[in-house]
Amino acid sequence: MARGSLIVFEGLDGCGKSTQLDLVFDWMQARGLDCVKTREPTAGAWGQRIREMARSGEPVAREDELAWFMEDRREHVRDMIEPALERGTFVLCDRYWLSSVAYQGARGLDAAEIQRANEAEFPDPDLAIIFEISPEEGMARVKARGGVGEPVFEEVDFQRRVQKVFDSLDRPWIVRVDARGSIDEIHERVLSVLTERVVRPE
Ligand code: TYD
Repeated sequence: MARGSLIVFEGLDGCGKSTQLDLVFDWMQARGLDCVKTREPTAGAWGQRIREMARSGEPVAREDELAWFMEDRREHVRDMIEPALERGTFVLCDRYWLSSVAYQGARGLDAAEIQRANEAEFPDPDLAIIFEISPEEGMARVKARGGVGEPVFEEVDFQRRVQKVFDSLDRPWIVRVDARGSIDEIHERVLSVLTERVVRPE
């Protein structure tokens, strides 16, 4: 059986990637394509610990934070992503290791080294869509959605540093999509990338 495809949705907080992921999932299901959606941090033990850390605002050493994201990803790839790819499924993943490079890089760790470690251990995505939005607009969307902020991750200055790292990432499987506009407009952009890159039209 042909191996599935790993499609990753990335970008700053408030970039709209999760909404777009849901729309792609529905679009694939309507076409009878075998697909699953998943996210990092996961709902597993490490992921819960990460979310708890973000909620509490308690300072955590950046090295520890990175180590938790890596542990979370290790379990995620082993138990969920890799088996699904082996079954021939489209795996839609809300954040992946590009976020570790960008966010933990923005916290002052060596971004190139984080990327090296992740590429050595985890499968490359077949496609990573980076949704591009300004840090200001992203933060405004996060506020508008009224969610409880995640103070560790979500200040504008910090988002600017995250954006810099996202901007610097360069791999043939990365595609950047303008995340400004209506949800439908952005969905159309995403579909044209998908049909061009990974989903063969019937
Ligand atoms: P996410 O679940 O996308 O945010 P939301 O709760 O708004 O849906 O991600 C939570 C935060 O985790 C986000 O600010 C980015 C951060 N993060 C990292 O710092 N490193 C990582 O490796 C990952 C996967 C996420």
